[in-house]
Amino acid sequence: MGDSGSRYLDFVQGWAVNCLGHSPQVVADALAVQAQRLITPSPAFYNDMSLKLAQALVEQSCLDQVFFANSGAEANEGAIKLARKYGALHKDGAHEIITFEGGFHGRTLATMSASGKKAFEPLFEPKVSGFPKARLNDLASVERLINDRTVGVMLEPIQGEAGVWPATDRFLRDLRELTTAHGLLLILDEIQTGFGRTGKLFHYEHAGITPDIMTLGKGIGGGVPLAALLSTEAASCFEHGDQGGTFCGNPLVCAAGLAVLRHVSTPAFLKSVTDTGLYLEGELQRLSVRHGLGEVRGRGLLLALDLKMPIAASIVAEGFKEGVLLNAPKPDTLRFMPALNVAREEVALMIDCLDGVLTRMGAARRVA
Ligand SMILES: Cc1ncc(COP(=O)(O)O)c(C=O)c1O
Repeated sequence: MGDSGSRYLDFVQGWAVNCLGHSPQVVADALAVQAQRLITPSPAFYNDMSLKLAQALVEQSCLDQVFFANSGAEANEGAIKLARKYGALHKDGAHEIITFEGGFHGRTLATMSASGKKAFEPLFEPKVSGFPKARLNDLASVERLINDRTVGVMLEPIQGEAGVWPATDRFLRDLRELTTAHGLLLILDEIQTGFGRTGKLFHYEHAGITPDIMTLGKGIGGGVPLAALLSTEAASCFEHGDQGGTFCGNPLVCAAGLAVLRHVSTPAFLKSVTDTGLYLEGELQRLSVRHGLGEVRGRGLLLALDLKMPIAASIVAEGFKEGVLLNAPKPDTLRFMPALNVAREEVALMIDCLDGVLTRMGAARRVA
């Protein structure tokens, strides 16, 4: 419901944040209970909620240590620092992290520098150095950049902001082999793909690989600001005081994270994400054929429709007038990232709306 009382069908969900929709009961209940107990004791003291959430994340993932942050950028900043410290300790000061053209890792100076987003290039110079760029799904482009200064490789399994460009499972496996062979850290930014978004709790499971470091954000809090940096025991080299922050791991947000994790990590829930994702994908493909559009990309409930024309912003504006919220990461691309518990009927409503908008736009183009 919008502030004017209008109803919206939301396929943006705060940029893939509200994994259980707006104000889900499980999150509201967890926050209400925790708000009565303890909100912020400061990170100087352990709190039960952060320990429980960290324990659950370790049990559900291939990683051993957890540091909580307040945003995806902060978790990635932590990953970069951790890799640099690892390089200082174990790799003779190696500090370069190979990242990818089109990648997006956040808006702090270091995470902007790690990003391969063209629009960031002229901003806030000079950037943080040490992030040479390879091309997604091109292993040779990664190999060419490896040298004595390299400590790791960092990527999103699906480049979301760039317009939903997936790394293939094969590429992820090859990258794992290559980084292992060179003693490099593989850092996965699962801020958009993690927490069930692609039908597995973590995207790396599709490729059957295990990263050394992983970052989570967005869906982990079900709408509240929470993010996490996870690493293997071998890569965990932070000592007390190396990384921190006033609000990091406060029990209020961790209570929300725990409630979300319990909900999304069940096999039945993850299967429903896969099934609904396949349904949405099929419906988008049908629309694409009918309106002469391009490919449908992505996995689970992180999908894009290539429009082949720069009409995405107009479609978003028309959808908004009809009460359907859509996202255009690129002028010719629509991205779909609904709540993971979106109903098929809601998908069908969105598709009907999109069909109508595309039909009217097609007719208008023909008249012009
Ligand atoms: C893959 C990825 N990494 C990092 C971020 C940054 O997260 P935040 O906006 O919470 O700092 C985003 C946000 O869109 C993202 O999609």
